[in-house]
Amino acid sequence: MAKDFFDEIIEYLKAEGAKHKTVALSEQTAKDFFMNRPAPAAPQKTGINEKQPKPPRRQAAPPSVTSRKPAPAPSPASKEDDFSNLDLPSLEKIAQQCTRCQLCQQRNSVVFGEGNPNADLMFIGEGPGFDEDRQGRPFVGKAGMLLTKMINAMQFSREQVYIANIVKCRPPGNRNPLPEEAETCLPFLRRQIDLVQPRVLVLLGAVPLKFLLKKTGIMRSRGHWEEYQSIRVMPTFHPAYLLRNPSAKRDTWQDLQQVMQIFGKAHKQ
Ligand code: URA
Repeated sequence: MAKDFFDEIIEYLKAEGAKHKTVALSEQTAKDFFMNRPAPAAPQKTGINEKQPKPPRRQAAPPSVTSRKPAPAPSPASKEDDFSNLDLPSLEKIAQQCTRCQLCQQRNSVVFGEGNPNADLMFIGEGPGFDEDRQGRPFVGKAGMLLTKMINAMQFSREQVYIANIVKCRPPGNRNPLPEEAETCLPFLRRQIDLVQPRVLVLLGAVPLKFLLKKTGIMRSRGHWEEYQSIRVMPTFHPAYLLRNPSAKRDTWQDLQQVMQIFGKAHKQ
């Protein structure tokens, strides 16, 4: 199988890591890499620099909504949708029984999200696809495999980050979520972000840009820092787009390097 752009970055970093105890992608390393002329880079410290202590988490209160059996028809959001006292497990319990929009009718699983509940880095996609709906986990299909490579190329593991979506149930035929579906589901994601408190959010594609930041134009916005609730936000391309347009991986890598800089994992510009 042909090597992917991100495979090559990961392999290169591994080789460098074998030479030096820790390695970060320096400017020279990156230049050498892109010129296909790898040269040993000066060892640099890897690891999350400037890590600020996170503010104390709010004490979780018991769920304010009691469990209900899935209804055959969607039952819209109500006053009960105040998630502000819920911790992640309680929030997930409610999401797992959600019938607030029509997406509940065809789903096999609710894909709540997964990863490190204290992650410094969080990725947000659109919504589950076929594989995710089957497995109940985000980004486990082809696009997910590419996302994992992107995360590894950033010198993080999947377990270190948190991954979620705008909607938790699969839109039929993998269409984009409708505005009412996204708006109905957003309180779950907002609470997830509030609880995880990442230092950086990476938005994967136009859908999270539209619904979380209320912005259009991923082509214009990618690579430019935004803000959500005082959290730095980097919009970039969705991995499914990259599968269709591999030449956009290079731009995506530039965007991801900006994120890596925040964590001291890439060269300072
Ligand atoms: N695409 C997404 O946006 N999210 C997933 O979980 C899988 C594919």
